[in-house]
Amino acid sequence: MDKHPDKVVLSQVGSFYELYFDQAVEYAPPMGLRVALKRAGKGKVHMAGFPLNSLPKYVEILVGEMHKSVVIVDQVERPYTEAANEMKFDRRVSRIISPGTLLDETLRDFQENNHILLINFTKHDFHSSAGAYEVKVGLAWADLGLGTFHSQETSMKKLLADVTRIAPKEIVIDERFERDIATSTRDEIQELQRYYTTYTKLSGGEVVLHYDNFAASRRELANHFQALARTECVAVAYLAAHLANILPHTRLNFELPTHEVSDDTVQIDARTSETLELVSSIRTRSAVGSLFSCIRRTVTQSGTRMLKAWMLAPSTQLDEIRYRQKLVAVFEACEFLRIRITGHLAQTHDLSRIVQSVSLDRSSPIDLVYLAHTLQYAAHIRDLLAACTTVKHGDAIIPLLQKLQVPEELAEDILNTVDEYALVQRINEERGEPDIEAPEEEIEQNEMRQWIIRPEHSHALTQAHARLAALSQTKQDLETELRASFNSVVFKCMPRYGHFVALRGTRGQIAALEDSLAAYDHSVVRAVLGNTVWVRLTPAVEIEENILRHVAEIEELEKEVLRQLRSVIEEKIPELRNLHHVLDYIDVTTSFAVLAHEKHLTRPKMTATRQLDIVGGRHLVVEEGLQTQLKEFTGNDCTLSPKDHLWVISGPNMGGKTTFLRQNAIIVLLAQMGSYVPATRATIGIVDKIFTRVGSGDDLFREMSTFMVEMVETSMILNGATKHSLAIMDEVGRGTSGKEGLAIAFATMVHLQEKNKCRTLFATHFAKELSDLLAQRGLAKGVSFYKTEVTELQPKRGPSHLLSFDHKLRKGVSENSYAINVAASAGFPKFGLKVAEEALHGFKARGVL
Ligand SMILES: Nc1ncnc2c1ncn2[C@@H]1O[C@H](COP(=O)(O)OP(=O)(O)O)[C@@H](O)[C@H]1O
Ligand SMILES: [Mg+2]
Repeated sequence: MDKHPDKVVLSQVGSFYELYFDQAVEYAPPMGLRVALKRAGKGKVHMAGFPLNSLPKYVEILVGEMHKSVVIVDQVERPYTEAANEMKFDRRVSRIISPGTLLDETLRDFQENNHILLINFTKHDFHSSAGAYEVKVGLAWADLGLGTFHSQETSMKKLLADVTRIAPKEIVIDERFERDIATSTRDEIQELQRYYTTYTKLSGGEVVLHYDNFAASRRELANHFQALARTECVAVAYLAAHLANILPHTRLNFELPTHEVSDDTVQIDARTSETLELVSSIRTRSAVGSLFSCIRRTVTQSGTRMLKAWMLAPSTQLDEIRYRQKLVAVFEACEFLRIRITGHLAQTHDLSRIVQSVSLDRSSPIDLVYLAHTLQYAAHIRDLLAACTTVKHGDAIIPLLQKLQVPEELAEDILNTVDEYALVQRINEERGEPDIEAPEEEIEQNEMRQWIIRPEHSHALTQAHARLAALSQTKQDLETELRASFNSVVFKCMPRYGHFVALRGTRGQIAALEDSLAAYDHSVVRAVLGNTVWVRLTPAVEIEENILRHVAEIEELEKEVLRQLRSVIEEKIPELRNLHHVLDYIDVTTSFAVLAHEKHLTRPKMTATRQLDIVGGRHLVVEEGLQTQLKEFTGNDCTLSPKDHLWVISGPNMGGKTTFLRQNAIIVLLAQMGSYVPATRATIGIVDKIFTRVGSGDDLFREMSTFMVEMVETSMILNGATKHSLAIMDEVGRGTSGKEGLAIAFATMVHLQEKNKCRTLFATHFAKELSDLLAQRGLAKGVSFYKTEVTELQPKRGPSHLLSFDHKLRKGVSENSYAINVAASAGFPKFGLKVAEEALHGFKARGVL
């Protein structure tokens, strides 16, 4: 406990985990446990405990809800020696559980990754801003339950975008930086504090790579590391070392670290992910209403993870995007193929999860059966695809097929070894059984248990089963013999009496007991209730003991067979991981085809230019919302090019400005994921970064004012956008007084136009003023003005007349923001509306507006 002061220590004592001392007092109540005061040594100590098999439940409370790290101290049997024949157990830390290192499958959601991310800062210069921006930072991240491992070199500038994309459940940072990070005023560093962070001693001494933790040879690893940047290598080594510390007695078998390159993917920072509502909606703060839940059609958990990874990091590589599109096209065109493949995929199990549970030695026999089935379905998918290479554009399938290598012989091996039917029966039986916690209970002898390895698997097993069957027969014969003299004959075993037979009969039968048993060596153990007698019958005891020996022997043999099977699987880990990537790829691309079919999407033309040409674009999530109210979404066009790369959108509130801005960013994002897009036609020049500045209220986390948040975000865009970027600016300058706000908006626009030269959509209520200012500066060229239109209904009936929006974007500048009308439709009181109208008239008359 002294070694882990900030962690909760759970120590195994027999069949319980115990909390001690202050920790018992502190944590037992929130865990719903009773604290007991027990005598120990010289004094009394507080303790609280729970049975071993309830561990997941309490880990969920401590780690999941209370965000604590938990140290598990297990008992291990010490090899028997004469000298130490009393204390037979050693205690050792078997693992440390934190949000990033949950292994218990019930505790995590396999639809997403459970990443633990190590950030290797090279310089602890967290306070200065400008110069340190380019400082290199090494990243390494892994998912323990899936065996994935990644590394990347990034810079301080891009760090936040990378962290957002990786979405770690836990960040590990060297303890040297703890204070600096806590006191840094830099925005990106403060943002990191949102994550659960472990500060630990990483550096000091040499950096040694734990080769054993990877399922790859030393040579492969060494070669691999040649290609990595120094910061990245160190990050990988630190993370591997950290994980080895946390799971000291486990071989981790991680895949060869995937080397990621920042420029291969679109940078999307936390703000953009939030404002585009990619994974959670702003209104509900949950996945409902997010883009992800709207587009998700994947049928496997691992495919869902890949889809999310693609969404948070769309590709910037034309070849890759085009290849994904080609596959989508094939699946889109061929409904039969699409339906069959998704049907097969839905039957598969999460390969990476199974593989990892095998290597962590946490797999159960049913996992092996699932693995076999998954391989069989993968083979079906391969055959289906192979048969379809001749369909229209089917040649796109060929490269995929080449990667789709299915180790089918492994499936055969497993199913020829494990008796699936018996296994399922056994699992069902175990499910039906209540937890047995009272060891004193009578245990009826039942050798008819379900064996899970086929007896014919090995000679030894066949023989052991034959002997066991013969013994059972002898036992049955004995029972039949005894039944001639007694009504009921039950073989039992109890700790106090050992093996015995409970004989029940009529008064006469019991009286004649000695005669009936004359042929056997026996003794009476206990007489119960006058009509039952428990008898120790030597031949029965011999048979029973013999049976038990055989049962134990078969159990051992089965374990050995399973061990062998697991090691065969372990050898195939790289192949299996490769297969699972291909299956995920197929899942995501077919899901795009399903989505395209359902939502009438079109294939965008992808180019390396700076064009963005969208005809009849739609916002999928808003459209879905409108559909439930039987309303139609109005499609809108957007054409940006190097010559005309800034659009200013004006119009009344509720006219559809924000929706238009977001929909274009989302269309670009979908296109670069490889998906089709909601538009009648689209040409998209690859975008390197998507920036958004959409007002969404105050940032409560850091207690900044709305305007401050706005400026922080705007600065990030002005500092970071390149001419290949896409920027979405919604009402910049809104958070401060009119004139100053206008000045800031104007400055932002000019900067974007002259310095950044990125494609920009700019929504504002200051359109008229901005257009005048631009004209004065001679910058009007290259900026286009568009507005959302509104029609006034019942115009003669006073101030509260209603508005009708058609949400169609037209050329021009909106002169009126219809604020009062919107206020009216929101239920503003009549008196208030009247005052507002009068004030507005007054401004106009005095020329204030
Ligand atoms: N193109 C469209 N077609 C149909 N309805 C739309 C469209 N754009 C927006 N809307 C509807 O109008 C509402 C307000 O849109 P929003 O983009 O927030 O307006 P603004 O930013 O101009 O105030 C949306 O919630 C949606 O219901
Ligand atoms: Mg808006």
